[in-house]
Amino acid sequence: MKKVLFAASEAVPFVKTGGLADVVGSLPKCFPKEYFDVRVVIPKYSMIKEEYKAKMQYINHFYMDLNWRQQYVGVFELEYEGITFYFIDNEEHFTGTEAYRGVPEDLERFAFFGKAVLSALPTIDFRPDIIHCHDWQTGLIPVYLKERFQDSNFYRGIKTVMTIHNLKFQGVWDMKTIKNITGLPDYFFTPDKLEFKKDASYLKGGLVYADEITTVSKTYADEIKMPFYGEGLDGLMRARAGSLRGIVNGIDYEEYNPETDQYIEKTYSARNFRKEKVKNKTALQRELGLEVDPKVMMIGLVSRLTDQKGLDLIAYMMDELCQDNVQLVVLGTGEAQYENMFRHFAWKYGDKVAANIYYSEPMSHKVYASADAFLMPSLFEPCGLSQLMSLRYGTIPIVRETGGLKDTVEPYNEYDGTGTGFSFANYNAHEMMGTIRYAERIYYDKKREWNKIVDRGMAKDYSWFSSAHRYRDLYDGLVE
Ligand code: ADP
Ligand code: GLC
Repeated sequence: MKKVLFAASEAVPFVKTGGLADVVGSLPKCFPKEYFDVRVVIPKYSMIKEEYKAKMQYINHFYMDLNWRQQYVGVFELEYEGITFYFIDNEEHFTGTEAYRGVPEDLERFAFFGKAVLSALPTIDFRPDIIHCHDWQTGLIPVYLKERFQDSNFYRGIKTVMTIHNLKFQGVWDMKTIKNITGLPDYFFTPDKLEFKKDASYLKGGLVYADEITTVSKTYADEIKMPFYGEGLDGLMRARAGSLRGIVNGIDYEEYNPETDQYIEKTYSARNFRKEKVKNKTALQRELGLEVDPKVMMIGLVSRLTDQKGLDLIAYMMDELCQDNVQLVVLGTGEAQYENMFRHFAWKYGDKVAANIYYSEPMSHKVYASADAFLMPSLFEPCGLSQLMSLRYGTIPIVRETGGLKDTVEPYNEYDGTGTGFSFANYNAHEMMGTIRYAERIYYDKKREWNKIVDRGMAKDYSWFSSAHRYRDLYDGLVE
């Protein structure tokens, strides 16, 4: 039996700001129980819903030395859908309405979390063979493990995996502060270790010290070896190429299932979507005050509103797009410039554009189910889950060919009748617009073709069962 502990800053259903939470919450369920015991540890945020907090069991507490003081570490446990989740408690660090407070404060919080995870292991009766770390918040775990936990038999031999969900966020701050916060000796602050352009980077530490590195698609694994996508770490990615693999994400096929979805107006399947899916569209049009018209092409967008998602291309094209016979339904929060941009166009084109500037799981399901197409013209995209959710709901993705979007959306080819979506190569607003217009033509003039694209998309399997076995191979390679 191999024991694996996922360490991360978020996991569904407890706390979610993006795809990281989907992955950390759903992947552990997809390993065969007779060979793998996969558990998860996240912070015990105060904003976790009361229904979960009430069920958590207190296991232990102790005081840990960090940042020149003794800090309280509480450990809680909860079994959810067959998976054991641990929660690291400390009110000072994890109270509040948001999971993140921004750097530099988060650097202190996640140095605490990283060291606390390691320190808590002997108290939870679970000695992992592998600690699987996700993103910069857990980057210090492989570092601490090498630095100060090696003297004890308990820790010696524990392997680490570092998964990059987004190389853009690294947990970088000035070296002196990070030395202070982490208590790591000078030895670690050189360019071949944590030093990053005269500052220090948590993620870099993780990438240097982890035994294996993964990222969430094959194409992104290639891209980050190049300067454009490498965020200053492309050299390290090339140096560690032998230990870096791209494993494409899956989604939870039970959570995202148009046949059983509780949040949507009318459930449907790959067999009856031609008749039934549209009922979701008209219901959503009514709910959002758009013109109610079953025939109009509805384009959905569910996203964090940040530069990564290609929103400047959309901003540039909004007026032109709104001259077409389309509706645009946006659900997202993020940078003020994009929130306001969508609010502006919703005001200007009230019956065509709906700007839902908030976070809502139920509304996201409604958009995936209701829209005809889903727009995701990302500047970069390590994997992307929204396009997979769209495919699952028979909503045709329109994407830029980058990262996981390139690996999961097969461009429509009208000559041989293949493909599951529409895509364009260059980060260029007119290229995006040309692709949207092409999609409009197929939607309005060749509806049978359109529906066949939907058929092919819905027939694809992007559940975890197609890629969880690649993590199994990785773990098997690390421990006998
Ligand atoms: P990223 O992790 O970069 O944000 P992904 O496509 O991997 O992008 O995952 C985004 C996840 O967050 C999806 O599950 C998507 O449905 C969800 N999501 C994003 N914005 C919202 C929102 N405003 N309301 C509900 N869900 C959202
Ligand atoms: C990150 C990436 C996204 C990916 C997600 C889960 O947030 O931006 O592309 O799907 O992590 O791996």
